[in-house]
Amino acid sequence: MPQSRWTAADLPDLHGRSAIVTGANSGIGRAAAKALAGAGATVTLAVRDTGKGHAAAEAMTGDVVVRQLDLADLASVRSFAKDTPGPVDILVDNAGVMATPERRTADGFELQIGTNHLGHFALTNLLLPRITDRVVVVSSGLHRSGKIDLDDLNWERRSYKPWKAYSQSKLANLLFVLELQRRLNQAGSNVRAVAAHPGYAATNLQGGTSSPISNLLGVVGNLLIAQSDTMGALPTLYAATEDLPGGIYIGPSGFQHMRGYPGVDVPARQALDEETARLLWDLSERLTGVTWPAAVG
Ligand SMILES: NC(=O)c1ccc[n+]([C@@H]2O[C@H](COP(=O)([O-])OP(=O)(O)OC[C@H]3O[C@@H](n4cnc5c(N)ncnc54)[C@H](OP(=O)(O)O)[C@@H]3O)[C@@H](O)[C@H]2O)c1
Repeated sequence: MPQSRWTAADLPDLHGRSAIVTGANSGIGRAAAKALAGAGATVTLAVRDTGKGHAAAEAMTGDVVVRQLDLADLASVRSFAKDTPGPVDILVDNAGVMATPERRTADGFELQIGTNHLGHFALTNLLLPRITDRVVVVSSGLHRSGKIDLDDLNWERRSYKPWKAYSQSKLANLLFVLELQRRLNQAGSNVRAVAAHPGYAATNLQGGTSSPISNLLGVVGNLLIAQSDTMGALPTLYAATEDLPGGIYIGPSGFQHMRGYPGVDVPARQALDEETARLLWDLSERLTGVTWPAAVG
């Protein structure tokens, strides 16, 4: 279990290991990728804008590769997975958008569930036969207010609510990672699926919501309350590298799990609902056309 005050300085030597981090040009993903590369891993920055990816890579030391991945476009996800040389030791499903204006992905999904959950669901299952160690999925404390609407996951019949769509997508992240671990267990795989969340960290996430007032509050909150992106990345790094049981959920251990060093957190009750997780998995397979792979690592 986490020692107190675990930091990136406690990362093991990662030479010879490879990691893919989605959304690695900004915020938590950038800080995590930088630390993994600094510890010796070969790190792929999986980013939708390779210009931003190269700018981020320039501030990193070590073996860093930039590749294009748009999680809001399944063709891009498929192409990224197809061109990924294996094996991949660690996949970090980190990229995300929050409380955006109502928008659709290239495949017609609501943008937040499409990017945060369905894109990562497809990517993970496509890469799974090549993953050797673990999948880390980055959720959020806001999953606690989440509800999954299996009849209208994509907000086609409901009136769109940006924050509810975000919390639904972050609850989907946890239901997905826990169902993934159950499937890996059933398949007799040694690959682990673990979850993390950064608490509240100052990143670009808070500036892209549908409401100018929320964006302004985000700026003020980032200045006054939030911890740094480097601190926010510690739960991800801990989940990615320490010897932990599959299905664990790591977040900051300080005030209200919003800040501090990594510790074990407990998912909300609705994230532990195995029936919903199974149904969400089936629905995600139907929507993405990507299924549980025949062979896993
Ligand atoms: N910051 C917090 O307090 C907080 C709290 C709870 C959970 N989280 C979670 O932490 C994760 C990282 O967020 P962050 O705070 O680091 O925010 P961020 O600074 O905005 O970074 C988000 C990253 O996701 C990328 N992204 C967005 N849409 C994408 C797409 N369609 N395809 C590929 N990449 C895409 C962004 O790329 P662009 O730069 O091109 O937009 C960016 O690199 C998210 O899953 C978020 O839900 C954050």
